[in-house]
Parts: sequence; C-alpha cells; structure tokens
Amino acid sequence: MSDVNTASPSEDPVLVDLQDGIAWVTLNRPSKRNAISPPVVYRMCEVLNQLETDPACKVLVLTGAGEAFSAGMDLRDYFRATDGDRDAQLKLFRANAQWQWRQLRFYAKPTIAMVNGWCFGGAFTPLVSCDLAIAAEEATFGLSEINWGIIPAGIVSRAVAQLVRERDAMYLVMTGEPFDGKRAAEIGLVNEAVPRARLRERVVQLAKVLMDKNPTVLRTAKQAYRQAAEMPWEQAGDYLMAKADQSTFADPERGRAQGMKQFLDEKTYRPGLGAYRREER
Ligand code: COA
Repeated sequence: MSDVNTASPSEDPVLVDLQDGIAWVTLNRPSKRNAISPPVVYRMCEVLNQLETDPACKVLVLTGAGEAFSAGMDLRDYFRATDGDRDAQLKLFRANAQWQWRQLRFYAKPTIAMVNGWCFGGAFTPLVSCDLAIAAEEATFGLSEINWGIIPAGIVSRAVAQLVRERDAMYLVMTGEPFDGKRAAEIGLVNEAVPRARLRERVVQLAKVLMDKNPTVLRTAKQAYRQAAEMPWEQAGDYLMAKADQSTFADPERGRAQGMKQFLDEKTYRPGLGAYRREER
C-alpha cells in the first residue's frame, strides 16, 4: 500500500512501515514522548481504516518512536486546549474512542502492542485493546492520573478492569505508582516482558506464529472471544455456535474440512500436537 504515509517521516504523527506481512504502526512524537494529541488521534483513525483491508497487512504492531510507547493523552493539546468547548471535546473524544478501543478491540487483523518504553494513562487503552502485548522489561508503566488531580477516565479504568485483578488494579488506580515491564507481565497487563534488546525479535517471532494461522478463523476466533466474554452463558453458547458456522461458511481455505480429513481419514495429523497443513486457495 503506497498511500499510508502521506507526510514526511519527521512531521507525520504516526508512521506505517509494511514489512513481510507486518504493519509496524509507530506513534511518532518522540520529543513529546508520543503523547496522544489531536493529530495523532485523527491519523490513527485513518491508518487503522486503511490497514484493516490492506492484504499486505497480516499482523499490526503498535509501538512508539524513541524512548516511549506513549506518555498518554496530551495534557496540553488534547485536554487543556479543549477545556470548556463541549463540541470540540465531543468530536475529539469520539474519534479517540474510535481508534483506541472501538476499532482496535474488534480489528479484522491480529494486533500486538510492542511496549518499548514509557506507557502512561490514556496509553493503557490501546495497550489493552490490542490482542497481545509484549513489553520491554525496562519499560515504565503507570496510571499517573491520581498524582495530578484527575481519575483514569476516557475508558482507562474499564480497560484495566478487563485484564488486571481487582486488587492490582485498585493499587494502580489509587497509588499511581510506576512499575516495570516484568511487573506488567505478572499482573497480566502484557503477555510477557523481554529485555529491550530482544523486544523486536520476539514480536516478529510472535507475528510469524499468527501469520501461519488461517486468517478467517483467526479473525473470527478473536472477535468471538471478546464478544462471548461479556455475554451470559446461554447467550454465549448460542452465539458461539452461530459464529462457528459463520467461520466455516466464510473460510475460503475450508480449514475445518482439511483438519478433519488429515486427522480422521489420512491420519497424518494430531490436533493436540500442532497445526494442520493449510491448503490455501
Ligand atoms: N502531555 C503533554 N506533553 C507531554 C506529555 C503528556 N502526557 N508527556 C510528556 N510531554 C512532553 C513534556 O511536557 C515535554 O515537553 P517540552 O519538551 O515541550 O517541555 C516533553 O514531552 C518531554 O517530556 P519530559 O517530561 O521532559 O521527558 P522525560 O523523559 O524526563 O519524562 C515522562 C518522561 C513520560 C516520565 C514524563 O514526560 C511524564 O511524566 N509525562 C506525563 C505522563 C502522564 O502522566 N500521562 C498521563 C496522561 S493521561
């Protein structure tokens, strides 16, 4: 895709680099620790829209330029600049919700947050909304809001409650204490933490695992999981059966039939020990 990066790299608030199926989406305000300003918000909406249907993007990785993942919402340009202007806030906050969770949580492609450094406040929302997250052990996280007179709003508190046990979540919300990547992994905010020197390599390795899967089934599986997690059991049971039928019907690779044939008829494959041989169409 040629038109994702429209501005010169130095002025574009979000960079996109497509390499071997991975779309590296980089928040690009390193001098402001990638704080999320209105141009970042609108550009992220645009970038996510474009990449969602781009066949060259098989996995999306969200990260930050320089020493930060993101220092959260821009206190000057996102908050103070719109104080008292309800219309401006409505437009901006809605667009921010659009990319940070409405779109990311149900994104058609698998997503990985690569937390390379500082990660504060509002940055927790896209972090939680990505399907998977790998952090540098040296990264610093924090719900710093309480320390400067606000609450973790936007939808940060709800997002944290999705992943973190209540004792840990309340500790973060009420103390604002910073913590490192290893602790983020312990409390379930990220899947794992690795030394920063190995961060990109580990993310590429994980992205390759995802790229080997049947993309139709992978998309349906992740979206179905998120929906079912918030449904009553009876409703989830019905929904998941319908979703399974939809996945089988929509799958051009006919993965279910292939897997069944390889296990039951050809006896060439054990579902418990690995992946079936994909016969792509
Ligand atoms: N909003 C607006 N500007 C921000 C910002 C934010 N969330 N985070 C950093 N910046 C700006 C700083 O104001 C500074 O701008 P300046 O060069 O014009 O003075 C620049 O980014 C660099 O920040 P600085 O604090 O000098 O960098 P640092 O490496 O010493 O510290 C942080 C990095 C992340 C620890 C520190 O910037 C910080 O605490 N940021 C706020 C984090 C936060 O509480 N976010 C929650 C918001 S919801």
